[in-house]
Amino acid sequence: MWKVQLFKLNYDEKETNAVNDVVNSGWITMGEKSQTFEKNFSTLLGGDVHSTAVSSATAALHMSLLALNIKAGDEVIIPALTFVADINVVRMVGATPILADCKSYEDWNITAETIKAQITSKTKAVIVVHFAGYPCEMDAIIKLCKDHNIALIEDCAHAPGAKYKNKACGTFGDYGCFSFFTNKNLSVGEGGMLTTNDEHLAQQAKYFRSHGMTALTLDRHKGRAITYDIAQSGLNYRIDEMRSALGLVQLEKLKHANVQRRILVERYIKELEGIKGFSIPFKKLENVEAVYHIFPILLDETIDRVSLIGKLKVDGIQSSIHYPAFKDFTAFKNIGLNSSPIAEDIATRELTLPLYPTMSIEEVHLVCDSLKKALGA
Ligand SMILES: Cc1ncc(COP(=O)(O)O)c(C=O)c1O
Repeated sequence: MWKVQLFKLNYDEKETNAVNDVVNSGWITMGEKSQTFEKNFSTLLGGDVHSTAVSSATAALHMSLLALNIKAGDEVIIPALTFVADINVVRMVGATPILADCKSYEDWNITAETIKAQITSKTKAVIVVHFAGYPCEMDAIIKLCKDHNIALIEDCAHAPGAKYKNKACGTFGDYGCFSFFTNKNLSVGEGGMLTTNDEHLAQQAKYFRSHGMTALTLDRHKGRAITYDIAQSGLNYRIDEMRSALGLVQLEKLKHANVQRRILVERYIKELEGIKGFSIPFKKLENVEAVYHIFPILLDETIDRVSLIGKLKVDGIQSSIHYPAFKDFTAFKNIGLNSSPIAEDIATRELTLPLYPTMSIEEVHLVCDSLKKALGA
């Protein structure tokens, strides 16, 4: 149906073989592949960090809040412009989500200033999102959280391999939460990783992932344990061996794929230079290595987004929106969310164009041509 899809998997026979090998091995639940996936993911982040593979980033975020003892009566500051998982997990532990606005129309991340404006005596944690794979300004955010004794969680769903001042995203806060959902930079279908530098928090992650058990099914299979104790209550947020095997292959491809993404974004920017009707955020990058998860643009107020999406569709170009404002969802209409003018405005004018590492320059050209035509440029 589409000439250029929003996203395409970066898969070949390596992924097929990896899954086949697992299925043929006779061990499909969390085991040695998952342990290797965790070890190699820690290496990606610089080595010292503890990585716990889980079933999704939503699971990782939920576990983070549980481990940090965030509960009813607490406030958690989250970006106003983000995926619904961030607000949902806060509400699922009974805490109150408070929205921090974007820095500006050029930089859509939250900052120490926009977070600080929302801090009260009830604030217990901040969740930052490295939007579209562009790292937040972490130095000031870390200092703010330390000064106010607030826990810091990094939602790195868009940012595997991204760096701020040469240090990996996912290593700055108490926890880092990664997503390996289909359309992510590293995709396994459904999966995630919970990272931390703290040994106690790493142990908590292991307990919350698997019923608070002190030994795994694998340990019993290997004869290393006869039974297990339950150290505390927990959940089943485990990954399985098929997904970890996919993750290992995808991890090997990640660096190159992220470079491809950068080249494609640079091409987009070049082809779209001087075209009126929209602006491109995150063009000024300082101290960061971005990983270009998506390519968002901001339409001018005069442009009708729905009609533009329709015109692109006629040309076979798929586009998307990141993200609708929380206040416009039925579930959050009447919960008293604070306003965030920049994010709310961006939410009405944002458009995401296709981007994936195997995209060709010709495909970028097709998208740009269609966009120019639709804008009458
Ligand atoms: C910013 C952000 N946070 C969290 C998530 C949730 O990830 P998952 O689907 O792995 O639970 C996503 C997924 O789209 C996301 O984009």
